[in-house]
Amino acid sequence: MTTTSAEESATILLVEDDAELARVISVLLERDGHTVRVAGSGAQALQMLGLTESDGGERPPVPDLILLDVLLKGPGGYEVCQRLREDGRMKAVPVIMLTVLDSLEHTLKGLGAGANDYVTKPFKNPELLARVEAQLRVKRLQDERDRAEQALQRRTKELRALTARLAEAEEEHRRRIAQELHDQVGQNLTALGINLNIVRSQLENGENGPIAARLEDSLAIIEQTTERIRDLMADLRPPVLDDYGLVAAVRWYCEQFSSRTGIETTVEGDDPDPRLPTAIETALFRVAQEALTNVTKHSQATQVTVSVTDKGNLVRLVIADNGVGFDATDTPPRGGWGLLTMTERAEAAGGRCRIISGRGKGTQIIVEVER
Ligand SMILES: Nc1ncnc2c1ncn2[C@@H]1O[C@H](COP(=O)(O)OP(=O)(O)OP(=O)(O)O)[C@@H](O)[C@H]1O
Ligand SMILES: [Mg+2]
Repeated sequence: MTTTSAEESATILLVEDDAELARVISVLLERDGHTVRVAGSGAQALQMLGLTESDGGERPPVPDLILLDVLLKGPGGYEVCQRLREDGRMKAVPVIMLTVLDSLEHTLKGLGAGANDYVTKPFKNPELLARVEAQLRVKRLQDERDRAEQALQRRTKELRALTARLAEAEEEHRRRIAQELHDQVGQNLTALGINLNIVRSQLENGENGPIAARLEDSLAIIEQTTERIRDLMADLRPPVLDDYGLVAAVRWYCEQFSSRTGIETTVEGDDPDPRLPTAIETALFRVAQEALTNVTKHSQATQVTVSVTDKGNLVRLVIADNGVGFDATDTPPRGGWGLLTMTERAEAAGGRCRIISGRGKGTQIIVEVER
C-alpha cells in the first residue's frame, strides 16, 4: 500500500547489501514511478557514482537521491556519505540513511556525515516513501532556485554588456555629431563670415549705411552662432578628454561648472600615467558630469571637490559636496536615473560605484575601477 505518489519520476541509487531488502525497496520505489539502481556495497556505490580513484573518463549521471545503508562492508555508509559531500557534482544530492541502529548517537553521526534524513529499519513503507518524496521536493526546489540564480547572473552579465555597448554607441554618436558640426556647420559659417567681410570691404564708406548696418549685424550673428556651436561641440565630446585625458577634462568642465553655478569647485589629482583606456576615461568623466549635475540640482552645496587618484592598479574618482545630503540607504532612491546610470557606467567599465550620503552630511560619489 502506498500513501504517497511521485510528483515526478526520479533516479534513485539504493545502496543496500541485503539483496532481499534491496529488491523490496526497489519494487516499492518503482511502483511509485521512480527508476532505481542498486549498489550491493559501498565500493560499488562509489564506482557507480564515478568516485573511485581510477575514475578518469566520462562521469556517470548524478542520481536525484541516494538511499544509503549504514552498515556496509568496505567503505561504510558514513564514509560513502562523506565522500559524496566532498565531490562538487554530488554534494547537493539528497541522502537518506537506512539503518537498524536506532540511537541518537547514530542519528547525529549520520547527519554529521552529511545525510539529509534518517530512516531506521524496520520501516513502514509509507514512511520511507514520504521521506523520499519530501527530499525530492526540496531537491527540485533547490534545483529550480539554482537555475533561476544562474539565469539571473546571465541576464545581469548581458545587461552590463549592453550598458557598456550603449555607452559606447552614445559616445560614438556624440563624436559624430560634434565632427559634423565642426566640418560642415562650422566651416560654412566661417566661409559665410569671410564672404560678408569681403562684401563689407567693397561697400563704399557712408553710401550704403543701412546695408552696412545689416552686414555688421549678420557678422555678429555669425560670431555668436560659431561660439554657441563650439560650446555645443565641447558638451557633446570635450576635445580635451581625447587630447589630454580625464583630469584635464574634469578641470575644464569644473571651471565652466563653477562659473555657471557659483559653487566653489576644487579638482585634485593628476592624469594617470600611462593614460587610462578610453572606455574608462569616458565612463569616469560622464559619472563626474552626472554627479555635478546632481550637486546643482539637489545639494545646495557651496563647495565641491573632485579628486582622481591612481594607486597601483586602482583608479578612484570621488565627487564630494558639502550640501544637504540624502538618505543613501534608500537605494536606489526613487525618482531619477542619475545614480543608477552612474552605477551602471562604473560597472560596465569593470568598476563599482559607492554612494555615501546622509541628511546634513553632504554626498560623496566614489567610483573605483581597475585599469
Ligand atoms: N549631491 C546630492 N545631494 C543631495 N541629494 C542628492 C544628491 N545626489 C542625488 N541626490 C538625491 O538622490 C535622488 C536621486 O538622484 P538621481 O540623480 O538618481 O535622480 P534625479 O537627479 O532626481 O533625476 P535625473 O538624474 O534622472 O535627472 C535625487 O532626487 C536627490 O534626492
Ligand atoms: Mg540626477
